[in-house]
Formats: sequence, structure tokens, C-alpha cells
Amino acid sequence: MLKIQKFSTLTAVALVASSLLAPMAMAGDRPSELAPLGDPPNPASNPTTPEKVELGKLLFFDGRMSANGFMGCVVCHLPDEGWDFPDKISMGYPGTVHWRNSQTIINSAYYDKLFWAGSSSSLEGQARSAARGGVAGNGEDDGLEARLAFVPEYVKRFNEVFGDTWPNVRNAYRAIAAFERTLVQTDTPFDNYMRGDDGALNKAEKAGLDLFVGKANCASCHSGALLTNQKYYNTGVPTYDGWQTDALAQITYRFEIFAKGVSEDKYRTYKEDPGLYFRTKEEADLGKFRVPSLRYTKYTAPYMHNGMIETLEDVIEFYNKGGSTNDFSASKTDMIAPLDLSKKEKANLLAFLNSLSGERITMDYPDLPPTEPLPAPVN
Ligand code: HEC
Ligand code: HEC
Repeated sequence: MLKIQKFSTLTAVALVASSLLAPMAMAGDRPSELAPLGDPPNPASNPTTPEKVELGKLLFFDGRMSANGFMGCVVCHLPDEGWDFPDKISMGYPGTVHWRNSQTIINSAYYDKLFWAGSSSSLEGQARSAARGGVAGNGEDDGLEARLAFVPEYVKRFNEVFGDTWPNVRNAYRAIAAFERTLVQTDTPFDNYMRGDDGALNKAEKAGLDLFVGKANCASCHSGALLTNQKYYNTGVPTYDGWQTDALAQITYRFEIFAKGVSEDKYRTYKEDPGLYFRTKEEADLGKFRVPSLRYTKYTAPYMHNGMIETLEDVIEFYNKGGSTNDFSASKTDMIAPLDLSKKEKANLLAFLNSLSGERITMDYPDLPPTEPLPAPVN
């Protein structure tokens, strides 16, 4: 009895306190489904240190982290091109094309799951998939590890950062992930507005924000600090047109679809990226992709998992029409419907989208340390 009373007194105090705080937390009338972006995660399993980040930066720019010595991460995540690749479908390992649009790695630190269909759950694991993937780095852990051991500067740095006597390739992926956790943009007009600076957004951008959470319904999926609920939907993005004309694209597609364990009849008939279906093998997941962050998109055209939408204006037009259709339209979400936006409203929405990007993040390519023969005898 006493316990219950105590509990309810505490609850009452908490309620009073939160109602006192509430007006402050909602200063202005910032929409509660959105938030400014905080510091990136710093996982206990791979804490970020300046030395690790510096090593990860070298490895990110280093082609020796791929089979042929020049397909390093930076090739498809170009610093001056939004840290992604500016074609519909990314370039692939020589002799192939990729089969999806390259994603920016700015702010990728904040996602729970990586890749368009969320098939990787950490930046460390993602880096390994990229270095080894047949249409990306095409490398082998053993081969990459041997290479690192022939770079005296890396031997020294792996020792200092991880205590390795011989560079461990898993630690290379850890270092790259630590570097990626520094590639964040939290200083945008939107963030500054959400932190309380009323002048950070102009009139058009504020009107766009109202549309974003209201009439245009964007925030039902693009919510939270990252502007994504991190769920999966088929929005009806049109089928990649290159499949019809590009033999390399068809080869990559067949290879990927087969490697991911799709049954033979589907392997023979699908002409479209099944997306989340690869992970669940549920028909209802055909053509579903992870809701992407809308941050930094000013610099990352073209858009969507297959790059089929060229500009942010076109993206708004796409949603205004209620999305489009593709081979998997049976699983298209009913959360997308025609919006009936006026010309002015579209312009305001675009202004708001652009307020989510901030300044471009650029970086000079670092000088990479040379490969040298080990002193004889090698043992
Ligand atoms: C050949 C081009 C290519 C190379 C090389 C490459 N990537 Fe990627 N990257 C892509 C593409 C394309 C995607 C989207 C793939 C998908 O969803 O299946 C991607 C996705 C990612 C993502 C996911 C971002 C998100 O929003 O989920 C990260 C992080 C990333 N790459 C980092 C790296 C790192 C680190 C390396 C080097 C070890 C690397 N990439 C090498 C093309 C490449
Ligand atoms: C039902 C959930 C949902 C709603 C509502 C929604 N989106 Fe999306 N959005 C997605 C998904 C899923 C993708 C990725 C689709 C794909 O690649 O196939 C996406 C992709 C995008 C992209 C491309 C980003 C990139 O990096 O390529 C932009 C820009 C975008 N949406 C803006 C908006 C705007 C503006 C609205 C409101 C008019 C909106 N979205 C409404 C789910 C949604």
C-alpha cells in the first residue's frame, strides 16, 4: 500500500515536471516528428580515436583495399560528388557494372541497417562486404591482409592503433568505419532552426517544412533526426531502364539475384530489383527499399535505389503524382497518393529539402604510404 502511494507521488511529480518542461521542448512550433541531428554513435566495440580515424582515412582512399589495386572505397564514393557516384547505377569492378545507385556515406554512421535493402547491420561489416563484393572491391581478406603487411607505415600504424604485430584486415574495416563516423553534417539550416534559431529557415523553407509534415505527408516515412523511419516500402520507383539495353547490367543482375538465393523461376523472370525480398523471401516485400535519409541529398543526384529520378524537382513531381509503377506494384504502399501540390507549394517543398544538406564536405586525397619489400629473409 505504502509502496503504491510512493509510486503515485513520484508519478505525479514527474507529470508536473514534464508539463513544465513541455512548452520549452516545443519552443516555436517545431514539429515533434523531426529533430536536429546529434553526435554520431561511438560504439564500445570500436571506439573512435583520432589515430584510428587517420588510419581509416588512408585505407578508405587506398586502392590496395581491393583486388586489382585501384577499386578502393573512394572510387564509388567521390568526395566532390556527394561521396557517392553520379550515375544512375554505380560503376562496378572493371568488367562489371554495379546494379544499384551508390549511396552517400555522409551521415551513414547513424543508420541501424546499411545498403538500400538494409542487408548490413554495422559500418564495420559493410566495409568488409564492399571490399569483397564481386561488383565492388572484389578482394579477398587474406590477399588484402598480405598487402597491408608490405606497407611499413601501415604495419606501424596498425600496431599503434590496434596492437597488431601483423595488420589484421578486420581492423582495417574497423578503422574505415571509425573514419566514416566522422563524415557527418549536423550544421544545416534545418538543424539550426530545430535547435532554436528561428532565422535559420526563411519563409519559403518554413512553408516547405509545414508541407513536409502536413499536406505532402513526407514525414510519415522521412521522420526523426535522420529524416527516415528506417522502414521499407515500395513507393513505385520505375524499373531501371538500363536493363533492356546494357548487357553488363543484365549479367550483374543475374549474378546478384542468383547469389542471393532466389528460386530458379524467379531468377528467370524478374527484371527488377526485388529489394527487401532478398532478405525475407516474402512476396509482400518485393520492391521494398529502406527509406533513405534526406540529409545531404542536395549533392547526391540521381536519386532512388536505381537512380531513376534525376533531380529533387523530379522527386517532388514523382510524389505529387502518387509515385509511379514497377513490376512489383502489387506490393506498392498505399501511403503514397497524389498530393495535388501547387507550383508554389512544390517550390517551397524543394526549398525545405535543400535546407537539409548544409555545406558540402570535401577532402583532399591523402598521400598514401608506399608498398615495400620486406627485408630478407622473409619468415
Ligand atoms: C564499385 C563501387 C563501390 C565501391 C568500390 C564501394 N562502394 Fe560503397 N556502395 C556502392 C553502392 C552501389 C552502394 C549501394 C549498394 C546496395 O545497396 O546494395 C554502396 C553503399 C555503401 C554504404 C551504405 C550507405 C547507406 O546509406 O546504407 C556504405 C557505408 C559504403 N558503401 C561504404 C563503402 C566503403 C567503406 C567502401 C570500401 C571498403 C565502399 N563503400 C566501396 C558502391 C561502391
Ligand atoms: C511511404 C513512405 C514514404 C513517403 C510517404 C515518402 N517517402 Fe521518400 N522515400 C521512401 C523510400 C522507401 C525511398 C527509396 C525508394 C527506392 O529507392 O526505391 C524514398 C526516397 C526518397 C528520396 C531519394 C533519396 C535518395 O537518396 O535517393 C527523396 C529525395 C525523397 N524520398 C523525398 C520525399 C518527399 C519530399 C516526400 C513527400 C512528398 C517523401 N519522400 C515521401 C519512402 C517514402
